[in-house]
Amino acid sequence: MSLPLGPSSPSPFQLMQWIGGPTDYLHTTAGRYGDPFTMRVGVFPPLVMFSDPQAIQQLFTAEAGSFDAGASNVALRPTLGVNSLLLLDGERHQQQRRLLTPPFHGERMRAYGTLIRRVTEEVMARWQPGKPFSVRSAMQRISLRVILQAVFGLHDGARLVRLRQALGDMLDAMSSPLNMALLLMLPEDWGPWSPRARLQTHLGAIDALLYAEIRARRERFDPAAGDILSLLLAARDEAGQSMSDIELRDELMTLLVAGHETTATAMAWAFYWIHYLPAVRERLLAELDSLDSDPDSEAIARLPYLGAVCSETLRIYPVALIASPRVARQRVRIVGRDYEAGARLAANIYLAHHRPETYPDPECFRPERFLERTFSLYEFLPFGGGTRRCIGMAFALYEMKLVLATVLLQRDLNLVQPRLLKPVRRGVTLAPPAGLFLVATGERSASRLLSRTPSAGQ
Ligand code: HEM
Repeated sequence: MSLPLGPSSPSPFQLMQWIGGPTDYLHTTAGRYGDPFTMRVGVFPPLVMFSDPQAIQQLFTAEAGSFDAGASNVALRPTLGVNSLLLLDGERHQQQRRLLTPPFHGERMRAYGTLIRRVTEEVMARWQPGKPFSVRSAMQRISLRVILQAVFGLHDGARLVRLRQALGDMLDAMSSPLNMALLLMLPEDWGPWSPRARLQTHLGAIDALLYAEIRARRERFDPAAGDILSLLLAARDEAGQSMSDIELRDELMTLLVAGHETTATAMAWAFYWIHYLPAVRERLLAELDSLDSDPDSEAIARLPYLGAVCSETLRIYPVALIASPRVARQRVRIVGRDYEAGARLAANIYLAHHRPETYPDPECFRPERFLERTFSLYEFLPFGGGTRRCIGMAFALYEMKLVLATVLLQRDLNLVQPRLLKPVRRGVTLAPPAGLFLVATGERSASRLLSRTPSAGQ
């Protein structure tokens, strides 16, 4: 099949570049071959990358049934399982989406506002003045607790505490670029010390906890509980069948993994930019200080500059470099070129966000651009688009805004070693390097304590 030009270097070499220095690889390749280009990494079939908004629009709005996307996420199968929303296609995908989307929107989502602010205050209470803390670990602690509670409700207990630990351990162990590369390159049976075998050990521990929780919740099922596991336990398909334990496990795992690492990374970047650029911090603090002394979550979520800071954070270093590749089910035409059935096509989020035609001075962090004009769904796409758009988008943005406001209203923080950071790959996300530390230098205003609800013991 004839595909757009791309690097002719061996695919293991392109894989190392894609894993070890993804943004350099993208800039160099797009600079040499233009848009679109074809990349060939590791054992995967060629992938055509698009950053032109018109091409992305055609990919995202193609007729139903033109593309599969779950089929292209096979690398996630060992972790998330075959029943994960990210791996499903067709009617089953649509049906699971209809089930999983509502809890992350509207009133149901807003109900998590108090939880997000309380968890943030609990984590913040550990930051001792003068003692640097890792921004990533702090954000991960917050986002993991929040997603666990959204998924499992208030049923906290020893099992969920162990689950929290086990998930964190797995993601930490698997996140290094080397592990990523080895996981993608080595065959499955490469011995007990291979990254795949270690991943399997972590997964075994997590699965045991998830299945135990599913069993316990089936035994004392509460139809009135609003958490996502209860919702999934109550769901029936057209034939009246409920979800099996394996299906439940795969969907829970998907929400836990997709829902916390991504949001934690975005929040870590936001804290970095706010403290790296004094003008951004000042303008944001002025806006936050204009709120009542005890603002409600909705008032925070509506703040325009705070929203612009979150958008610019997700623009300059989008957490996901590309949307899930779309696999053509039949011949498709994208911006004047035909692609045969089986072609793998991806919206390149990072490159779309770095087009100087759309974003003048794209390497510059400037939230104001989001106040000056509105970008289309095909120019600004940190959460992908079309029928596969991230179901956690509203939830993640809400969490980002509430966490940033809760911290900034109460603490003065400084970057340890302020310097321009280059993003690194962490698992499938584009993250700040591990050395990002902040230090608390004092309280901002004790009267601005945001959440006043009692702890639910998470
Ligand atoms: C800043 C945070 C987040 C970012 C940047 C992000 C980004 C993305 C992207 C780029 C996709 C692929 C979309 C596409 O292929 O068009 C996606 C899919 C998905 N995300 Fe997120 N996400 C975030 C947070 C969340 C949260 C909080 C949840 C869960 C509550 C979540 C659950 C999912 C799921 C289940 C999918 C698969 C959707 C499907 O295939 O139909 N994400 N996300």
